[in-house]
This record gives sequence, C-alpha cells and structure tokens, in this order.
Amino acid sequence: MKKHVETSLSHIAKFAPFAEQTGASHFPIYNTGTFDLKKQDGDKIYDYTRSDNPTREMLENLFTEVEGGAGCVCTHTGIASVALLFETTLKANSHILVEADCYGGTFRLLKIFKEKYNVTVHFADFLEFDQMEEILKNNPIDLVLCESPTNPGLKIIDLKKVGILAKQNNALFAVDNSLATFISQQPLKLGADFSLFSTTKYISGHGAVVAGAIVAKTPELAEQIHYYANAGGRSQNPMDVYLITLGIPTLKVRMLEHEKNSIVIAQYLEKQNYIKKVTHPSLKSHPQYDLANEQMKYIPGLFCVDFNSIELAEQFIENTKIFGEKCSFGSPDSRVEIPAKISHATFSKEELAAIGISDSTVRFSIGLENVEDLIKDIEQAIE
Ligand SMILES: Cc1ncc(COP(=O)(O)O)c(C=O)c1O
Repeated sequence: MKKHVETSLSHIAKFAPFAEQTGASHFPIYNTGTFDLKKQDGDKIYDYTRSDNPTREMLENLFTEVEGGAGCVCTHTGIASVALLFETTLKANSHILVEADCYGGTFRLLKIFKEKYNVTVHFADFLEFDQMEEILKNNPIDLVLCESPTNPGLKIIDLKKVGILAKQNNALFAVDNSLATFISQQPLKLGADFSLFSTTKYISGHGAVVAGAIVAKTPELAEQIHYYANAGGRSQNPMDVYLITLGIPTLKVRMLEHEKNSIVIAQYLEKQNYIKKVTHPSLKSHPQYDLANEQMKYIPGLFCVDFNSIELAEQFIENTKIFGEKCSFGSPDSRVEIPAKISHATFSKEELAAIGISDSTVRFSIGLENVEDLIKDIEQAIE
C-alpha cells in the first residue's frame, strides 16, 4: 500500500534492518566500529561502520522512501552532503550551473572546488530560463544545483522546468531540499537526480545536532554516493542518527506550526513603517506566491525582512529578548540574523546585492513559541 509521508515518519522503526524480529517501537543504536564477518550470513553483511551501519541504514531507508529515491547516504553535517554531491558528480575542469542565491557554505565550497580543481562555476538566476538555456547550450555542464525556497532570498524555483532543461542538456540535477523538506516537496518526483538536505534544521527539529543526507534517484547514482561516502568518510555516526530520529515523527505538526506562526509575524511586520519589504512565500506580495503553493504542501517558517536602515536592523536584533541572534533555522526557538554578517558572510557585498540582500536584511526563523509573545518582543525591541 502506498503510504503518505507522515505515516512513514510515525513508524520509523519499521525501516530498521531486523525490525520484524523484535517489533520494537524505536530501534537499537549499533554504536560499534566493526562487525564480525564470521557471525553473519544472509544477503546483507556489515563490516565497518564507515561503510555501513544498521542504525544509519534505518534512516537511509526512511529517507529513500519519503523522497521517492533508490538509495541514500546520511552524512555527518548538511554541508557534507553538498560536498559528497560534488565529489560524486564533478571532476577536475567540470562545469556546474548554480542558482546564485544559495547557502553561504555551499558558496564557499564552490569557491574551493574552483580554486583547487579548476571547476567552472556558472551562477545564474533560475527564474530567468533564457539565461540558464544560454549557459547550458554553450558549456559542458555536468551538474545543475539549486535550493527551493532559496536561502536567504526565499525565491521559489520551478523544479519541473529546471529538471527538463537539465535533462535536455545531459546534466544531472540536484536540489537542496533543506528548507521545504520531504514532507512538503519531493524533488526526485519533479525531475531531480539528487535531493539533499541538512537534517540539522526542520527534520531533526530541536537544534540539538548537525547532520545531513543525500538521496539518489537511480540505483546507479545511489551506488556512486555510497562509494564516495565510504571513500571520503562522509557518513553519519549512529548516535547522531538516533538524535535525528527523535524529532522526525513530529515533522508535519511542527512544519504546520512554524508556517502558521511565521505568517502572523510576516503579516504584522509588513504593516510596520520601519520595514521596507518582507519576503515570505506565503504572502501574496511574494513574486512566486502561486508556484510556492503549487509546489510545496507546507511553507517553511523562514523569511527575510528589509529594515529601513542598518541601524534599525541592528537595534532590533540587539533589543529582542526572545529571538536569539543565531544562524541556522527550523528549531523550536525563534531566531534572527543578518545574513551578510553570519550565514552568508562568504559572499561579498556586491554578490549579496546581486541576489537582493543588504546589510539591513534580517533573516527570521520563526519557532514554536506563542506568537503573541513574539509580537510583544518585536514591539519592545523597536520602541
Ligand atoms: C540550504 C542549506 N543547505 C545546507 C546547509 C548546511 O547544513 P549544515 O549546517 O547542517 O552543515 C545549510 C545550513 O544552514 C543550508 O541553509
């Protein structure tokens, strides 16, 4: 029987190897380095946790099912899944096409691949199909990569259209699904070859661990990511897998609450005279409002606000009592940050300006607090 994502998430233990033998509601943490080859028989043999581990395999089986892929590698951080994607799909002198509005850590990694391996990085605005077509037509692009929504600009990319364009030009297509998560959209079903994400954020949901994952569409690509994960030691340790799974069954209810709270705050801020612009895909003023609602089931509680001045943005952050000045998102606690200062400090001012981000842009990640308390905190901070 074909199940909805939240049904699978509520029965995660069933994805564990040997689940049938115990019927346990949760699953054992095999916190071991090695396995005795003489003690095992059957189809699946474990030898060393870097290559394979039953605890990690449970999470990989779950992510494979909910993303609709053929195989997955859980990695020790979200950025490790981006690195693993590059290690798997790029070689010296490769060309990659990337949406210019991307996470600062991804941007830094691209610079490293450019400097060390002479990878040509073509940045483009993925809302401009002519621009993308031109690059794809004139360059041997191996990989197309974007986030949707993008971080920090909250652009919504038409994944189906980009997938078609990538295929027409024999390029692989990868989507960083960290913001929307698989509860909301499944990029592999829209034409992507890889869906990768930081589980540090909404998926683990409690800000207690850093981790990531990458899911491949075909068995061949799945085999390749496993090969490079083992070679480069990218895989996640079993204790961290356990921490991630504690949050997973409640992903849907948390996403609903993050979305609901963030809409109230975004609508409130939109009316304030100290604000220039609020960019939230759930607001009618968002340029891809229709696509956002069509492509995603739930909208994440992350959005950007342009204050009238840098001084006001800084005063606001300094004076808030509930909001922490923190990077990352998707935790129960609300947080604010100036991307130019923290999460996207690897961009120059000009590079940020090109994607519409300035020093007075504040990124909000709305948590699970009472929304009236959050509004009172904003009011007192700006007084
Ligand atoms: C879109 C996106 N991808 C990847 C990452 C990297 O994840 P991690 O911090 O878990 O390494 C982040 C981190 O903020 C992110 O925002």
